[in-house]
Amino acid sequence: MPTVMITGANRGLGLEQARQYAADGWTVIATCRNPIGVGELATIEGDVQVHGLDVTDHRQVDRLASDLQGTAIDVLVNNAGIYGPRGMGAADMDYAEWEQVLRTNTLSPLKISTAFADHVAASDQKKVVTISSIMASIGGTTSGADYIYRSSKAAVNMVMRIFANDVAARGIICVMFHPGWVQTDMGGPGADIDEVTSVTGLRGTIAGLTTSDSGEFFNYDGTSLPW
Ligand SMILES: NC(=O)c1ccc[n+]([C@@H]2O[C@H](COP(=O)([O-])OP(=O)(O)OC[C@H]3O[C@@H](n4cnc5c(N)ncnc54)[C@H](OP(=O)(O)O)[C@@H]3O)[C@@H](O)[C@H]2O)c1
Repeated sequence: MPTVMITGANRGLGLEQARQYAADGWTVIATCRNPIGVGELATIEGDVQVHGLDVTDHRQVDRLASDLQGTAIDVLVNNAGIYGPRGMGAADMDYAEWEQVLRTNTLSPLKISTAFADHVAASDQKKVVTISSIMASIGGTTSGADYIYRSSKAAVNMVMRIFANDVAARGIICVMFHPGWVQTDMGGPGADIDEVTSVTGLRGTIAGLTTSDSGEFFNYDGTSLPW
């Protein structure tokens, strides 16, 4: 069976991805900041390996890539993310918080995808997925505020599109997704859809990806999204 590696797998969309892939018989490499007391993640039945990984710690990323040397990873999901302070305007901008969000949402997907490129290239499916957001859409931005999160996701779309070109010759398919507005800690209880709906759609779309999709930005249901 194939192998998926998911960052931020201890709650929210990452946890639901771990649950669904494990139920489908996949080997799941579930990473999370604190692997002790991972709660629901520890209760998932199936072939689930839990590893500690703070995605912003590049030494930890390199160490895990080295520990997993020789393991083929069919689907690598850059899922971990933070929103940062909400509703912050330009005048009261917290630039230190902005840098932390960029380190998490923008820099870490490239660092992790680069560190694990050999593992992905050695697999059958060769897919790198980054969970972005519709809030990355520059064309769709018609209101103010949320500089931090929006810019971090717009930037990661560009970063991973460049990466898609760089790894195309190795047969790696690299795409970005909006997971929907989902009822997680980040999305809140009033969001449009639940985690099961989002992840069921994401998994179905990921399963159907081909090399011609690489570098593109999709909704969880497989429809193309505007930049
Ligand atoms: N929910 C939505 O409506 C929505 C919409 C668009 C995009 N997204 C994106 O979807 C992804 C998942 O979001 P979610 O809704 O599941 O959010 P969530 O419930 O807040 O979960 C976020 C996950 O990311 C992890 N994480 C954050 N910083 C990390 C770090 N430095 N190292 C390792 N793990 C880290 C968290 O771990 P801890 O428990 O250790 O904090 C947690 O497991 C994110 O990239 C988010 O931006 C979500």
